[in-house]
Amino acid sequence: MEKGKFITLDGIDGAGKTTQLAVIRDWFEQQNLPVYFTREPGGTIVGEKLRKIMLDKHTHISVMTETLLMFAARQQHLEEIILPNLEKGVHVVSDRFTDATFAYQGAGRGVSLEKIECLERLVQEDFCPDLTILLDVPLSVSLSRIEQTRDKDRFEQENRAFFERVRSAYLTRAANAPSRYVVVNNICDKMEVKTEIEQILTRLFA
Ligand code: TMP
Repeated sequence: MEKGKFITLDGIDGAGKTTQLAVIRDWFEQQNLPVYFTREPGGTIVGEKLRKIMLDKHTHISVMTETLLMFAARQQHLEEIILPNLEKGVHVVSDRFTDATFAYQGAGRGVSLEKIECLERLVQEDFCPDLTILLDVPLSVSLSRIEQTRDKDRFEQENRAFFERVRSAYLTRAANAPSRYVVVNNICDKMEVKTEIEQILTRLFA
């Protein structure tokens, strides 16, 4: 049996993932392809518990602990959800994956690339997404969307410089591996972005 494809959707906070996830969901439904939607941090019972801890603005977490918790949640996610589904021929779409750790914990918080790459190897070996759709918006758009969030989590409370580093890390990663990433500018016309995402998926499954 052919294995499923692993697709991740990532980007800075406020990049508009929720809207585009709905577009992706509709596309899979129209194509009648088996798919499992999940998210990081989270996706499993343990992962969702870790997510709660990591997003809680009242909990102090050291930068390295946060990084390790992201990978702990990811380990469980891979073992319990991602790999078994792909093995069964079910495609998996994850709202965020390891690119977020490089962007947020790496560029945002200053954890070295070597440490993150070491954890990536430990948890994933050479496993990585077949396709990563990177949603990009100018920083001003991201910040104004975050500003409208009523109860900001630990990450949403970060400052402009933090998000600037996160955004630039995402774009650099995408530029360095163009065969795996597609950068979608998410401030264009809604219908245009929808069509672009549908075309990206159609190409992947052609
Ligand atoms: P969400 O807002 O997309 O649900 O994600 C929750 C937050 O978690 C978001 O601000 C980014 C952050 N995050 C990291 O810092 N590192 C990671 O590895 C992942 C997966 C998410």
